[in-house]
Amino acid sequence: MDLYCVMGNPVAHSQSPWIHARFAELTGQKLHYEKHLIDLGGFAVAVRSFIAEGGLGCNVTVPFKFEAAALASQISERATLAQAANTLSFKEGVIWADNTDGAGLVADIKQGAGIDLQGRHLLLIGAGGAATGVLAALLLAQPASITVANRTLSKAVDLVQRHAALALQQKTELQAHGLQKLDHPFDVVINASSSSLSGTGVPVPGSVLKPGALAYDLMYGAAAHGFMTWAREHGALAHDGLGMLVAQAAESFFIWRGVRPPAQQVLAELRAAR
Ligand code: ATR
Repeated sequence: MDLYCVMGNPVAHSQSPWIHARFAELTGQKLHYEKHLIDLGGFAVAVRSFIAEGGLGCNVTVPFKFEAAALASQISERATLAQAANTLSFKEGVIWADNTDGAGLVADIKQGAGIDLQGRHLLLIGAGGAATGVLAALLLAQPASITVANRTLSKAVDLVQRHAALALQQKTELQAHGLQKLDHPFDVVINASSSSLSGTGVPVPGSVLKPGALAYDLMYGAAAHGFMTWAREHGALAHDGLGMLVAQAAESFFIWRGVRPPAQQVLAELRAAR
């Protein structure tokens, strides 16, 4: 049976084995997908031994996405821009790295929330790993503008500079901002900061939301509750990151198997089961 896995630390919470098993069932693909807890410092060795066992590909989660990109012999443009990979494919001695997080986000905004990002004004909160992983894909959706707002302004500036050429090509106005004086409203506000985990709440004022704006948290479950409640209180359409989780998995599945799984059906099943 074709072998895949997700590698991370921690990884016990990962829904990927269930999602990929369901994709395989629904598309008639024969594969086995495991969950591998990897020691910090043991990622490269784990990848090599998985390849030796016959593994064909793996998903990579926290904290190994940066190492995964660095380990690759070939890397996609979007993973290069993200400096991180969540999908590795192994073929004939080559480790191919890609990053499907951003494509998953854009797909879920389109199919799950019903919003086309083209021509919209976006606010991306955060400039850490999560924000970095999605910015290229957001630019590829050709919004009118993206403002990257971060507590540490220099990190937002770095991120914006790294994506400046792509922004120019896409004719999207891309700018860095601090969290203060964000006083104009946006069509779509994406929370890619981990402020909810630190218990400090949403780090921007409600005035960043246009009436009926989409407010999207990359997290899901309890970690997204604070942001979702804040968004609803300010008249926005609140959306958590569960759809992105399924959509990025669907992109990985497509890379490995060449078949598009029914992501919306699997998302509905996952929501019903939670
Ligand atoms: P992740 O991989 O989840 O993105 P990360 O790379 O550590 O994690 O990035 C966390 C992001 O959340 C950063 O943008 C961080 O801002 P700084 O760059 O200023 O550290 C942001 N963040 C974390 N706690 C925050 C808080 N209490 N208020 C505002 N932003 C916060």
